[in-house]
Amino acid sequence: MVSNKNAASNNFARLPKTVVPQRYDLTLKPDLQSFTFTGNETIDVIVNEATNKVVLNALDLKINCASFRNTLGNVIQAEDCTVCDKSEVATITFPSNLDIGEGKLSLDFVGNLNDKLKGFYRSKYITPEGEERFSAATKFEPTNARRALPCWDEPAIKARFDVTLIVPKDRMALSNMNVISEEVEQDLKIVKFATSPIMSTYLLAFIVGEYDFVEGITDNGVKVRVYTPLAKKDQGLFALDAALKSLSFYENYFQIAYPLPKMDLIAIADFASGAMENWGLITFREVCLLFDSKNSSKIRKQYIALVVAHEIAHQWFGNLVTMEWWTHLWLNEGFASFIEYLCVANLFSEYDIWTQCVTDAYLPALHMDSLHNSHPIEVPVGHPSEIAEIFDAISYNKGASVIRMLHQFLGDKLFSQGLSLYLSKHSYKNTVTEDLWDAFEEVSKEPIRKVMDTWTKQTGYPVITVTERQNGNDRILVLNQEKFSADGKLDETDKDVLWLVPLSITTQSNLTVKTKKVLFDSRTTEVVLNSTPSDHLIKINPGCVGVYRVHYPSEMLERFIPAIKEKILPPLDRLNLQNDLFAMVQSGRESTSKLLKFLESFIDEDNYTVWESISSCMAALSVLLSNTEYDDAFKVYGRKLYSKIYEKVGWEEAENESHLTALLRSLVIGKLVSFEESNVIEEAKKRFESHVNGTSTIPADLRATVYRAVAANCDDETYETLFSLYRKSDLQEEKNRIAQSMGAAKDASRIKRVLQFSISDEVRTQDSVHVIICVALNKYGRDAAWQFFQDNYEELHSRYESGFLISALVKYCTQNFATEEKAKEVENFFAKHPVPAAARAIKQSLESIRLKADWLSRDLINIQSYLLSANEL
Ligand code: BES
Ligand code: ZN
Repeated sequence: MVSNKNAASNNFARLPKTVVPQRYDLTLKPDLQSFTFTGNETIDVIVNEATNKVVLNALDLKINCASFRNTLGNVIQAEDCTVCDKSEVATITFPSNLDIGEGKLSLDFVGNLNDKLKGFYRSKYITPEGEERFSAATKFEPTNARRALPCWDEPAIKARFDVTLIVPKDRMALSNMNVISEEVEQDLKIVKFATSPIMSTYLLAFIVGEYDFVEGITDNGVKVRVYTPLAKKDQGLFALDAALKSLSFYENYFQIAYPLPKMDLIAIADFASGAMENWGLITFREVCLLFDSKNSSKIRKQYIALVVAHEIAHQWFGNLVTMEWWTHLWLNEGFASFIEYLCVANLFSEYDIWTQCVTDAYLPALHMDSLHNSHPIEVPVGHPSEIAEIFDAISYNKGASVIRMLHQFLGDKLFSQGLSLYLSKHSYKNTVTEDLWDAFEEVSKEPIRKVMDTWTKQTGYPVITVTERQNGNDRILVLNQEKFSADGKLDETDKDVLWLVPLSITTQSNLTVKTKKVLFDSRTTEVVLNSTPSDHLIKINPGCVGVYRVHYPSEMLERFIPAIKEKILPPLDRLNLQNDLFAMVQSGRESTSKLLKFLESFIDEDNYTVWESISSCMAALSVLLSNTEYDDAFKVYGRKLYSKIYEKVGWEEAENESHLTALLRSLVIGKLVSFEESNVIEEAKKRFESHVNGTSTIPADLRATVYRAVAANCDDETYETLFSLYRKSDLQEEKNRIAQSMGAAKDASRIKRVLQFSISDEVRTQDSVHVIICVALNKYGRDAAWQFFQDNYEELHSRYESGFLISALVKYCTQNFATEEKAKEVENFFAKHPVPAAARAIKQSLESIRLKADWLSRDLINIQSYLLSANEL
C-alpha cells in the first residue's frame, strides 16, 4: 500500500488537458545590462474541448498580449491574461470559445533575469582581463520553465521546440539543439536553433555568454563540446574524454543511438545543483566539470567522471523516456545514480568505483531510510515545494541501491536487455515505475513487479535477525525480518510490513562465491547450509548489495574477527559487518562498547572504502560525544585506531601509486586532524608555510585537510593568509576548500567572521551553504551556525526558498544537537518560521536530535568505561 501522509498533494491541481501544446516557436531576448528579457512564442496547440480559457503555467512573468489563430487564419485577441503567483498558473481568457482542433496561440511576455539560480537567471563571471560581466543561463527542473516562458510545465506534456535567441553580437548563444542560422543586425545577433525532438519543458535550456570550448566526436558522429570559462579550455579536457566515452558506452549498453546531433557540456559559474541534464546542453557547476591538472584533487576528478556519466545517462533515461509525474522522479534519479557507477566502472577501472558506491549511495540511503520521517521511493507529490523536497537521499541513493540489488538479482545481461526494451518501447513518451518492472519481467520471466513493489512503495527496509543451530553436518540458520528503525521502535503500521528480500549467503569454503540464494518473502524462514561445520564463517549479504541490515548473534560475529584482521573476508563484507553493527548500536540493539571493541579489529585495514565507512561511523560518534565530556577520550581512541594506516600511507605520494592510495591518504590524515593528532597538525602547519612562501606546493589531494588543520590551529595572521589565498585563487574548487576549511576555526570571533563572509559578495550563493555547514559541523561553531541561521532566516529563506539547498542547510544547522531541550528549540523556531521545502528535513533533524539524546542516556556510562580502560592500555 502506498501511504499518503501528505494530504496537500491531493489538493494540488494538475493542468487541464482542454488545450495542449504540440510545438513552441519561441524567441527570447535577454538584456544582460538591465537583467530583463522579452519573449514571444507561438504555440501550435490542439483544442480538445470547447473553451474560452487557456490554462498553462507561468510565474514571475508579465504576459502583455495573447491571441489565438484558427486553421482558417482567423485571429481573436485575448481579453484577459492573469498570472496567479500562488498556483503558478496563467489563465488566458478569450471573448468567445476557441475552435476545437488545431490552432496557434501567440503570447508576448517579459520577465527578469533573476539572481535566484532558477528559471532564466543571471550568473556573474570575471573575464581574464579582470572585468566583471554577466551571462544568462537556465535551470528549469523541476518546475521553473514557467519562469522563463508561459508553458505547460509538466513532464508528461511533451512538445517540440523551435528556439530563437536574440543576443549581443559578441556573445555566444546555446540551446538544446544545433544552430541552423545566425544573422547579425546592428549590435545584435539572431540565432536560430534546429527543431527539438518531442520533449518535456524541464529539459529546455538557453545560455548566453562568453566561453571557450574543447571538442571531439564520437565513433557514431555525435559532436561533443565542453564549454569552459574564457582562457580555461584545458580544464575541459578530462570531462570531454569522460563524455565521449560515456556517450558511446550508453549507446552500446542501451542499444539506442543518441538522438541529437550534438551534445554540449558547459560550466556555469552560478549554479544551484551539481549538474542538470538538459537534452543536448548539460549544465554543470564549475567544480563538477572543470579539472585543473595542477590544482584539482583525485577525488574531484573521480566525481567529475561520475557526474558526467550520471547526466549523460539521463539523455536516455529521463529525456528520451520521462517519468509521467514527479512521484516517479526516482526513475530518473535513482536509475542515473546507479548507472553512473556501471559506466565509470567500465571507463576508469582504477577507481574501483563499485566498491565506493556502497559508501556514497547505499549507506546514506540506509541511514535516512531508518528514520520514521523517511518516505517511500514512490511518493505522491503535488505542490512545487513538495516536488523540490524529494530530490533527496531516498530518490537518489535508495533508488540507486534497489536498482543495484535488482541488477545483481537479474545479472547484467538480462538487466541490459530489459533496459533496452523499456527505452525503445517508451521512447519520446512517459512512464510510471511499473513500466520498468514490466520490461524486466518480460526478459526474465521473474516476478519483478511483486518483488520491487515492496521496495519502492514501502518506507524503510528490513533488519534480518539470525540465529543458528547445528544439525549433524548441516548448519541451520533461522532468519527473521522486521522493519529496521533507527530508534528501535516500530509504529503500529510498521509491524505488519514485509519485504521480498533477494538474500544471498557465502560460507567459509568460498567467501567470494555465493553458496545460497533465496527469495525471503515471509516473517521467518530457515535456511539449511549443507556440510557446514559449526565453526565456519557464514556471511549474509555478501558484497553489501541487499538493502537490509543483518543482526548477528555475538558468537557468529566474533568468529569473523580473525578473517577481518587477516583480510580474508572481502572488503565489502568487512565493511558490511562493521556498518551493520554500528546501526544495531545506534538503534539500541547492541552496546556502543561492543562496536568500539569490534572496530579495533580493523587496525590493519587498508581498503579505502572500508576506512570511509569506519570514518563516517567515527564522525557520528564524534558528534555524539562532542555533546559530552568524553570528547577528548574519544579522540585518543581515534588516534590509536588510525595510527597503523597513517604509518603506512604517510604524507608523501609514492611513485606510480594507485588512485585509491591517494584517496586513502587524504582520508586518514583528515581524520587525524579531527582527532587532533599533534604530529599531524604540526606537519600540516609546516607544509602550509612552505606552500605560502613558495618553497613547495601542497598536492591538491591534501590541501583541504591541510587548510582545515591550519584554520583550526593557527594565529590571526595565518587565518588572514587563508582569506588572501581565497581571494587570489581563480579556481572554484580551491576557493571552496579554503572557505570550507575556515569553518573549522575554534575562536568565537573567527567563527562569526566566517559566517558573515559566507553570505558576503565574495562567496557565490550556491557555495555559501557549504561554508555554513562546515561551521555547523565544527563543535565550536554548532551553536553559532544555528544562531546565524535564525538571525538570517529572511535572507537565507529568500535566497534558497524552494530549492534543496535550504533542506541541506536546515538539516546541518540543527541535526547535530543531542538534547530534548534543543529539539524543542528547533521545533519552536520552525513552527514560527516555516520552510515548506524543508518540511521533511526539519522532521528528520528533530528525529536525529532525539535519537542522540536517547543514545547518550542509554549508553554514556558504557562508552565512558570502555574509553577509559581502552585508553589506558
Ligand atoms: N536532474 C538533476 C538536477 C537537479 C537536482 C534538478 C535537484 C533539480 C533539483 C541532475 O541529474 C542531478 O541529479 N544532479 C546531481 C548530481 C548527480 C551526479 C548526483 C546534483 O545536482 O547534485
Ligand atoms: Zn540526475
